Amino acid sequence: MKIPFFVQEFTDEMEEAAIHALRNESFVGGESVSKFEEEFAQYIGTKYAVSVSSGNSALQISLMALGIGELDEVITPTNSFIASANCIRMTNAKPVLTDIDMNDGSIDLSNSKNSVNAIIPVHIYGNPCNFDLVKSFADKQDIPIIEDACQAHGAEYKGKKVGSLGDVGCFSFYPTKNMTVGGDGGMTTTDNEETALKIKSIRDNGRKTKNEFDKMGFTMRLNTVNAAIGRVQLRHLDEKTVRRREIVSIYRKNLAQDCVLPENKDGKSVYHQIVLKHEKRDQIRKELTDNGIGSAIYYERPIHRQPIYEEYNYKLPNSEKFSKLVLSLPSYPQLTNEQTFEICEYVNKIIG
Ligand SMILES: Cc1ncc(COP(=O)(O)O)c(C=O)c1O
Repeated sequence: MKIPFFVQEFTDEMEEAAIHALRNESFVGGESVSKFEEEFAQYIGTKYAVSVSSGNSALQISLMALGIGELDEVITPTNSFIASANCIRMTNAKPVLTDIDMNDGSIDLSNSKNSVNAIIPVHIYGNPCNFDLVKSFADKQDIPIIEDACQAHGAEYKGKKVGSLGDVGCFSFYPTKNMTVGGDGGMTTTDNEETALKIKSIRDNGRKTKNEFDKMGFTMRLNTVNAAIGRVQLRHLDEKTVRRREIVSIYRKNLAQDCVLPENKDGKSVYHQIVLKHEKRDQIRKELTDNGIGSAIYYERPIHRQPIYEEYNYKLPNSEKFSKLVLSLPSYPQLTNEQTFEICEYVNKIIG
């Protein structure tokens, strides 16, 4: 690929931090872990952050810590990565998938039933969802909100960082994300001490004290070396977000049609994905591929159309239509202005 869809980053600074941690700290539970957690909590604006092994485990452990389990029902949008729903099933609760707003692909609660036990809104593509609507839906029923902020490190809604808006925020550090840890990793954020302590225990086999285990749990900790790399990445996150926002403005100015998904008017997107919505999506994608430019579809199949969810028989027409129109363009900070102009030229050949 002349311009790949995604470029993995490994800098000298990341390498030095990794080697230093491997040589000087315990591989598991080293001081880089607690430092990364403190710095991440401070960055998001919550009292606590507890690291875990992935975004998926962040979501699953958060649900467990909030007491979600068998016979419970949890709402989440169908236009997301499958982990947003799998975490619900892993607790033996039932996923209640909702349709989406055609405008930006985010959760639409207008047809949702008012008797569930928790809600997982997703800040999809790095764009904050309409959190006031989520909050009033949750407050009416007095249910917890677990934010899926796996794509939205540093995004803001009404001046507050996502991950600090609900009861727990969940982040992924998978290599394609806006910040990574040199492998899989995740983080939970909360202001509630009891929830933070439960998450800490569940990620560590349900441990209460050294030799006492009082709940079910997993081995879902973040390794020290990954935390050390995460600290470096966190320090550079904001400058990378600035670059992502520059890239989207180049796309917006140079594309022949206004077809980039909009930013929440009450928020600030971190543009994990820069997404086009266009009837000629397949032609645009072919033109890009033929010219050595990577692109991706998030998501080719909404969650309810995945084989493992078909048994629920959900009818969610917006998301199905949306999945045929969207195309993610390269959005990473290393992309140059010239490369961005070039991508626009190929897209314009089809839509201009
Ligand atoms: C919206 C969303 N939720 C959950 C996840 C799961 O994160 P992970 O891959 O770290 O388990 C991801 C990332 O892949 C994601 O994009």
